[in-house]
Amino acid sequence: MRIGVLTGGGDCPGLNAVIRAVTKSLIRQCGAEVVGIEDGFSGLMDANPRTRVLDWRSVSGIAHRGGTILGTSNKANPLRSPADTERTLANARALALEGLVVIGGDGTMSIAHGLADLGLRSVGVPKTIDNDIVGCERSFGFDTAVATATDGLMRIETTAMSHSRVMIVETMGRHAGWIALEAGLAAAADIVLLPEIDYTVEAVARVCREREAHQRYTVICIGEGAKARGADLTVQHRVEGSFDPVRLGGVAHVLREQLQPLLKSEVRATVLGHVQRGGQPTPFDRVLATRYGHHAAQLVAAGRFGEMVTLQGGDLRSVPMARVANQQRTIALDDPLLVTAREIGVSLGEH
Ligand code: F6P
Repeated sequence: MRIGVLTGGGDCPGLNAVIRAVTKSLIRQCGAEVVGIEDGFSGLMDANPRTRVLDWRSVSGIAHRGGTILGTSNKANPLRSPADTERTLANARALALEGLVVIGGDGTMSIAHGLADLGLRSVGVPKTIDNDIVGCERSFGFDTAVATATDGLMRIETTAMSHSRVMIVETMGRHAGWIALEAGLAAAADIVLLPEIDYTVEAVARVCREREAHQRYTVICIGEGAKARGADLTVQHRVEGSFDPVRLGGVAHVLREQLQPLLKSEVRATVLGHVQRGGQPTPFDRVLATRYGHHAAQLVAAGRFGEMVTLQGGDLRSVPMARVANQQRTIALDDPLLVTAREIGVSLGEH
């Protein structure tokens, strides 16, 4: 049996631990030959496919390493044109691949699902620091990102305290605020702003003013997908003509422009950015990634292609890839963690 392994989409701490566990399990359980595909689907789409054999030795000593030894791409899509699709399928046939293990997010699962309809079967492993994959309560990489963001927030807190400033820290999470919520709670941020709940600038400013009078400083954690409620859009438009957080250098900077005129304290903004995706995975993520990789190999051994491994109620399970493709798991407004945040007095910028 020959199985290809690839990592797709943005990188994420724990990818190497998955590659190691998938490869070792496939070799030991099925006597499989494992072929690593470089740079995500891009390595399989090229006229000269970029692959390398993954043997026991080549995946030893990598579980703790950040990034992916295979490289990744968040642009390559073999379904974009019929020619790309045909070349990808022909390459897979030439490489005698009986299936793939694709380690990626909702976009990668969508591609894998599309290729399965054309005869190239896959098993999926959920990857994203954002923790927003449908049907999966924890993707590997999230724990590491939360630890990094928490560390960033706590470092910001000491400088906020020293200067009596309002400090805004932006975390990743384009569609879902899981990193902002968990890191915000872990670091005891005063205000947590999420993509799921539009904030009002006045509500945020009010909390900062109250704290100016008593605690003197405020730490705000904002997820990169957060935005002000409709009524405040005029303020956002005034900032730079149009709402374009990327051009402005992140939503933290948008919020800084909105808040500064309303406060006595100086306001500063920090975007944590890709530091959250880099570096060594936490022990939790290494173990989760190893469990996912091993479980994916078991699905391959059982011929259960078309499924993505997942964690539900703390147990390893699998869900159909079709259910996961191109969708995000956002925070429900009655999520227990949100309720907890509100009830311990963390402002979500609502009112
Ligand atoms: O999907 C993970 C993520 O970290 C998002 O939170 C973020 O918006 C995105 O990746 C940034 O990716 P890149 O800069 O690689 O395009």
